[in-house]
Amino acid sequence: MLLCRTRDVDQTRALAGAIAALVGVGDLLVLVGDLGAGKTHFTQGFARARGVAEPVTSPTFTLANRYVGDLVINHLDAYRVEELGEAEDLAIPELLEDGVTLIEWGDRILPALPGDRLEVKITLGDDDDERQILLSSMGRSWTSRSGALSAAVGPWLVA
Ligand SMILES: Nc1ncnc2c1ncn2[C@@H]1O[C@H](COP(=O)(O)OP(=O)(O)OP(=O)(O)O)[C@@H](O)[C@H]1O
Ligand SMILES: [Mg+2]
Repeated sequence: MLLCRTRDVDQTRALAGAIAALVGVGDLLVLVGDLGAGKTHFTQGFARARGVAEPVTSPTFTLANRYVGDLVINHLDAYRVEELGEAEDLAIPELLEDGVTLIEWGDRILPALPGDRLEVKITLGDDDDERQILLSSMGRSWTSRSGALSAAVGPWLVA
């Protein structure tokens, strides 16, 4: 696990952009954290870093948005997914094949998700604009990248 700290939104976007440089088609990031933690802003930085020019907005009401940068980025929000049956309606296996997938509130539907994933847990820090970001690599595909991941987020690592 890697514990990072960002001091404002731009740092969260930059950290997400650094992680985005490590991903490819089939990768999954599960974004965990309370309302207003910064999951959508993280996704904005991530998508921008992969060449998405259009604004990235919260998929809370649409459940899933699809962006095309230098790879496809699927952005989902499971906040309103009440049952795992609904999670199956999101057609996650198909989305995963299509590009890289980020799921806000993904912890609500973990049983519907594959074991290979990066968990990004965002919590509030001491100051209003501070966030703690805990990265947990799950499964071989992410643990094999843990060296690259820790180098990428080096500027924000909490010693
Ligand atoms: N360091 C920071 N990183 C990210 N967001 C921050 C930070 N500091 C302050 N903020 C603010 O926190 C809020 C994060 O909102 P955002 O929509 O990204 O949260 P969210 O986790 O997606 O919430 P929701 O569960 O409602 O979708 C924004 O208002 C943003 O300006
Ligand atoms: Mg959000």
